[in-house]
Amino acid sequence: MADLRVKLGPLELQTPFMAASGTFGFGEEYASLLDLQKLGALVVKGLTLRPRKGNPPPRIVETPAGMLNAIGLQNPGLDVFLSRELPRLKKSGTAVIVNIAGDTEEEYVTLARELSRAGNGVLALELNVSCPNVKKGGILFGTSPSILASLVEKVRPVCTLPLIVKLTPNVTDITEAARAAESSGADILSLVNTFLGMVIDVASRRPFLANETGGLSGPAIRPLAVRMVYDVYAAVKIPLIGMGGILTLEDSLQFFMAGAAAVAIGSANFPDPLTIPRLTGELNKYMKKEGIDSLEEIIGAAHQNTV
Ligand SMILES: Cc1cc2nc3c(=O)[nH]c(=O)nc-3n(C[C@H](O)[C@H](O)[C@H](O)COP(=O)(O)O)c2cc1C
Repeated sequence: MADLRVKLGPLELQTPFMAASGTFGFGEEYASLLDLQKLGALVVKGLTLRPRKGNPPPRIVETPAGMLNAIGLQNPGLDVFLSRELPRLKKSGTAVIVNIAGDTEEEYVTLARELSRAGNGVLALELNVSCPNVKKGGILFGTSPSILASLVEKVRPVCTLPLIVKLTPNVTDITEAARAAESSGADILSLVNTFLGMVIDVASRRPFLANETGGLSGPAIRPLAVRMVYDVYAAVKIPLIGMGGILTLEDSLQFFMAGAAAVAIGSANFPDPLTIPRLTGELNKYMKKEGIDSLEEIIGAAHQNTV
C-alpha cells in the first residue's frame, strides 16, 4: 500500500477520500455495502439542535450531469444523534465528522459546545454555513464575509475539535469568505456546497421541486468547484477539502492539484455506493506507478506548473 494518510492542520485522516455531508446519512444504510472504517471520514448529514422533517416532496430531481436537491436538513436533532447515531458510528470504527447547521449563531454555538463535550467519538466539526440567518433577515451565513466571520468567532472558543468551515459557492468572490473564515479561527475550509438552481416542470408550468429552488451537485459543477479550490488555495494558508462532482480518480487528482489536501465524494455515492473504496484503490495504484511517496507531493501542483 502507498501511504495514503493526509494531515490537514490538526486533523489526520488515513485516506484523503471522505463521504460528503448529506450523501451518506449517518452511515447506517451503507454499513452492509462497505467497510465504513475504510473511509477517510464520514461527514454526517447536517445536524441541527432540534429534529427537522425537511421539505415536502419532491425534494430531488435529476439534471444533465447532476442533480438538484432541496432536502431541507431532515435530521433527528442533537439528542437522538448523541444517544443513537454516535454510539453506533463509534462502534463501527468510522472517523466521524459532524456537519452542523442552525438558524442563529446561538444554535451553532450550542451544537459545537455539546459535540465537543461528546468526547472521542467525533473527529471534527464542519459548519454548514449555507443556512439562512433568521436574525439577519434570512441572509445565508456564508454569503456575507462579516456575518460568516461573526459566526466563526462565536463558535471557535467553544469548539475544542478541529473546526472546518464549509463554504457556499453562491457568492461573487469565494476568496473573501475563505479569508473571513480563516482570520476568525477556522482550521480547515471545505468547498464547495451546492449551487442554487431550478428545474421547471413544463407540464404543470411550475418549479419541479416543492421548495422551488434546490442545490445543484454532481459532475456539472466540477469545473466550477475546481476553479474555486484553485483560487482559495492561493488566498489562504489553512488546508482545504475539495468537492464537487468527483466521480473518477482523475477528477480527484484535479482537486488535489488545485490545492485540496483531501476530497469529499457526494452525489457519486448514489449511483455507486462503492465509489470511495474504488477511488482509494485507484489512488494507491496511481501513487505506486508514479513513484509518489506522499500525497503532499501533488497538492497544489497546478499552481507551480502554470505557463
Ligand atoms: C442529497 C444531498 C444532501 C446534502 N446535504 C447536505 C448537508 O446536509 N449539509 C451540507 O453541508 N452539504 C450537503 N450537501 C452538499 C454535499 O455535501 C456536497 O457539498 C455537494 O453535493 C457537492 O459535491 P458532489 O457534487 O460530489 O455531490 C448535500 C448534497 C446532496 C446531493
